[in-house]
Amino acid sequence: MNTVNCRKWYPVVGTNIIPVKEGRRITFGNQEVALFNLGGEYLAINNRCPHKQGPLSDGIVAGKTVFCPLHNLKISLETGCALAGGNGQVKTYPVKILKDKVCIAFEEGQFQAVENEVHSNANEPNSMDIDLGG
Ligand code: FES
Repeated sequence: MNTVNCRKWYPVVGTNIIPVKEGRRITFGNQEVALFNLGGEYLAINNRCPHKQGPLSDGIVAGKTVFCPLHNLKISLETGCALAGGNGQVKTYPVKILKDKVCIAFEEGQFQAVENEVHSNANEPNSMDIDLGG
């Protein structure tokens, strides 16, 4: 049985799209990710708060943390761990910049649904939903 977790990088948004100290929700396959611009450094975590599923992409960014907009749980954008206001942890995603695009790595099992979408529509290689609202 192969237990190696393969990752694949996907460009999700241009580096000029997300304002500094803000986040955006990115739906990718069955993953809902909150991507944050910390001023040239980007970090990505699961978008759903471990408390009651609040949308973390709408939270207030402070340093390398975000405060959930619903009940103020403070979450580290580096580890995904709750730091204050409660307990819990969200998944983190590797992020890198490549040719003015912010790229997120998804594990093989996570992008299978996306791969199917990509192959069914060659004109839209980045078939993901990015919420560019605030
Ligand atoms: S839903 Fe995030 S703190 Fe309650």
